[in-house]
Amino acid sequence: FMPTLNNNSVTKITNTKNTIRYDGDQVLRVFTVNSKHRKKIKELERDGKGQKWASNTTTVDLFIKKEKIEDVKQSLTNASMDFRILVEDVQKAVDEENPPFTSEELNEFSSRKGHRLTFEHYHRLADMHGFLDYLGSTKSDFVSVHTIGQSVEGRAIKLIKISSSKPNATAFWIDGGIHAREWIASATVLYIINELVENRDNLDKEILDIDFYIIPLMNPDGYEYSHEQERLWRKNRRRSFGSFCVGTDLNRNWAYEWGGQGAGKYQCQEIYAGSGPLSEPETKSVANFIMERNSKFKAFVTFHSYGQYILYPWGHAKRLPSDSEDMDRVGRIAAAAMKQNGGATYTVGNSAALLYPAAGSSDDWAKGIAKIKYSYTIELRDTGRHGFILPASQIKISGKEAFAAIKAISKEIQS
Ligand code: ARG
Ligand code: ZN
Repeated sequence: FMPTLNNNSVTKITNTKNTIRYDGDQVLRVFTVNSKHRKKIKELERDGKGQKWASNTTTVDLFIKKEKIEDVKQSLTNASMDFRILVEDVQKAVDEENPPFTSEELNEFSSRKGHRLTFEHYHRLADMHGFLDYLGSTKSDFVSVHTIGQSVEGRAIKLIKISSSKPNATAFWIDGGIHAREWIASATVLYIINELVENRDNLDKEILDIDFYIIPLMNPDGYEYSHEQERLWRKNRRRSFGSFCVGTDLNRNWAYEWGGQGAGKYQCQEIYAGSGPLSEPETKSVANFIMERNSKFKAFVTFHSYGQYILYPWGHAKRLPSDSEDMDRVGRIAAAAMKQNGGATYTVGNSAALLYPAAGSSDDWAKGIAKIKYSYTIELRDTGRHGFILPASQIKISGKEAFAAIKAISKEIQS
C-alpha cells in the first residue's frame, strides 16, 4: 500500500480510518524494582504478550492487546509486581487525540496560501511541507527550504534553513519525527520554526545570530503510515528480501557504535538497527548534510516523545563523554527555562543511565562523529497519562516550553 500525496490527503486527519484498531487495548506501568522483575518483563515481551512503549530504571510501560490483559495482569500479580493502568483504552485515546478540522478552518485554509498549520491539530506531511515552502517563498531573505534526500518510499526529506545575517554564524541543528508515532515531536518542531520565522521581532540578538537547520519530519513514510494504517508504528518503511517484517529503527541506524547494546539484529524487532550503519536514506542524507557543514554546528537537538527528559550522550553504554558536565549544565539551564515559561518539569541526565543503553542513536552520532559539543535528545510530554497518543490540545504548550529550551541553549552556545 502506497498512499498518494494529493491535495485531498491534507483534510483527512482523523485516525479512525486506520486499518489496525486498538479497542480495549491498554498500557500498564509496571514497577520493576529488581532484576527478577526485569526478567519477567523480558519474558512477557518475548512471548508476545506486551510491547514496550517506554522504560527507565524503575518502570516499564507495556502496551497490551485486549485478549492478553487478564493473562498479563495475572502473571504480574503472581510475580508480586506492582502495576497501574496508564491508558485504559488505547482506541478511545486515538479517537480523541486529533480532532477533525472545523468547517471554519477548512474555509480559512483556502485563503491562507501554503500555510495551513493550526498548532491545534496534528497535520499530515503535505501540510507540513506546504508550510515550509510557504515560509521559503514569503521570507526568502532569510529562509530557504532544501530537499536533502528522499525516504525509502520516495518522499522528500525537507530541511528549512533560517539564517542569521552573520557570515560563518554558529549553527544549531533541530529535528523531530524520527520515530513515526511520536507526532508531538514534529508538531513541536513546526511550532519552533514558526516562532523563529514569524515572530522574529521578539527574538534576542543571541538567537538572531545563529543559523538554524531544521527538519520537522525525519521519517515521512513512517509518519504517513501511522496516520493511515497503524497509529503505533515506530520505524521507517524499509522492506527487504528474506523478511516479512517492515522497517528499520532510524534511531539505531547511525554510524557510531552501530549494532551495540540496545540495538536489534532482526528486522521484526522494533529496535532493528538496519542492515548496516546509515543503511537508510533518512539517516544517510542527514549525516551527509551535517558532515558537509560540520564545523559550524555547536548544538544538536532531536525531539522525541515521551517522558519529559533532556538526555545527553553517551547512549550506547553507561559511559560519559569527557565534557559531560558542560552538557549537564546547559541541559539544566534549558530545563529551568522550560519551567519558568510555564512549562512542565523535565529531568536532565545521561540517556543510558536514566533510560537504557541504545547504540546507533543520532545524539551519539552527533557527539561522537560530527563532534557537535551540545548534543541532546529531548523526550517531550507527557509522563505516561497519554504516552504517544498526546492530545493535539497540548501542541501549543509543548511548543512553548520546547522553544524556551532552544532559546536557552542558543544563548549558552553563544557565550
Ligand atoms: N527513546 C529514545 C530511543 O529509544 C531514546 C534515545 C536516547 N538516546 C540513547 N542513545 N539512548 O530511541
Ligand atoms: Zn523516539
